[in-house]
Amino acid sequence: MQFANVTFLKSVYKSAQLPPAQWPEFAFAGRSNVGKSSLINRLLKRKNLVKVSSRPGKTQSLNFFLVDDALYLVDLPGYGYAKVAKTMQNDWQTLITDYLMTRETLRCVVMIIDIRHPLKKQDRELHDWLLENGIPCLAVYTKADKLPRGQQARQAKLLDAALNIAPEEHVIFSAKTGEGREKLLDKLDQFLV
Ligand code: GTP
Ligand code: MG
Repeated sequence: MQFANVTFLKSVYKSAQLPPAQWPEFAFAGRSNVGKSSLINRLLKRKNLVKVSSRPGKTQSLNFFLVDDALYLVDLPGYGYAKVAKTMQNDWQTLITDYLMTRETLRCVVMIIDIRHPLKKQDRELHDWLLENGIPCLAVYTKADKLPRGQQARQAKLLDAALNIAPEEHVIFSAKTGEGREKLLDKLDQFLV
């Protein structure tokens, strides 16, 4: 997978604003502040294409990036951020579940999880919901640079067990060092064939 030409296409706040389902698509999901936007930047080797913030709740819309007139990457708003108004959370949830369930070009949801912590309730709920709805997903354990190797392996094992997935079904990643980038690209490629 090459990323020669990447452009920000649009932010989507309502289903009606979704761009035509023209290209295969990957969506990036995870808790607020887990590092979704950072992961996309690292994947695309663009430092500041996607806005990153130490403040959770930065990404509040579905943000579409067009890659080489061949692929869409979609940065989803994070979940689990309590300070966002409940009504707004409900609106997002409707928008995101509608999108995930009906988007025929969606190839895979990349579920991004902080490698340092046990699986959170909302991660499990999303994972179960994706399985129930037959939506392919790939687990990425990020912020690996924050743990020494031994602990990375231990945490990955625990998260695999919590998600009930095999070791081949996860990627250990760091947006800071780039660890796992090639492996993630390989995995994503497999969803395109
Ligand atoms: P929302 O849009 O608010 O849901 O957040 P997000 O999931 O897009 O997270 P974002 O990429 O904005 O990153 C949140 C914070 O974590 C920022 O301060 C990043 O610099 C930091 N961060 C993200 N990924 C990594 C990583 O792999 N390693 C380290 N050390 N820090 C990271
Ligand atoms: Mg973000």
